[in-house]
Amino acid sequence: MGKTLIKIAAVYFSIGVLVGMTMGIIHDFRYTSMHAHINLLGWVSTALFGIIYSIYPFAADTKLAKTHFWLHNIGLPVMVIGLFCESWGISAALPVMIVGSLAVVVGTLLFTVNLFKTLKASSIPNARSNFKA
Ligand code: HEM
Ligand code: HEM
Repeated sequence: MGKTLIKIAAVYFSIGVLVGMTMGIIHDFRYTSMHAHINLLGWVSTALFGIIYSIYPFAADTKLAKTHFWLHNIGLPVMVIGLFCESWGISAALPVMIVGSLAVVVGTLLFTVNLFKTLKASSIPNARSNFKA
């Protein structure tokens, strides 16, 4: 799961910088919020999830982690589509954005609970030994 999340994050990064570059070139800053969240939730947060699940693979082997994975990876594209439509002034897209972002938020709460349940200090001998090749 760690590697998959890191690859997904890289795709968001590419889309995020392309949107940023396009905004700069055409001087249309309506997409700033979409750009910011593609980069910060899509690239930065998703990469951090991937890195954390790679360092602690046993934390990725839980139902909570799998639910987080799907809520994040379904919720975020829905949220981004909602943000895109919002930048076009399509107010009907607001519920779409809300549903997408709620999925991301619930996923993030599950991620946090999962880490507290699985990362017990006494059960982590050495982070390096937890890496899967
Ligand atoms: C080549 C890459 C990038 C380009 C060309 C670019 C371009 C832009 C542009 C044109 C804006 C709008 C500025 C404005 O409204 O005045 C912006 C805003 C923003 N960018 Fe980027 N960006 C890039 C990469 C990134 C990355 C990697 C991140 C985060 C990891 C990021 C985060 C943000 C944020 C948070 C804002 C909103 C700032 C605010 O609210 O004032 N950008 N970017
Ligand atoms: C589901 C989670 C999130 C939701 C629902 C959310 C929602 C929002 C909203 C409603 C705004 C105001 C947008 C506007 O004024 O047009 C905003 C702005 C912003 N958020 Fe988030 N956010 C989320 C996660 C994050 C995360 C994780 C980060 C950073 C790691 C972040 C960084 C920012 C930044 C930098 C801005 C200002 C960018 C701009 O100028 O539009 N957000 N966010």
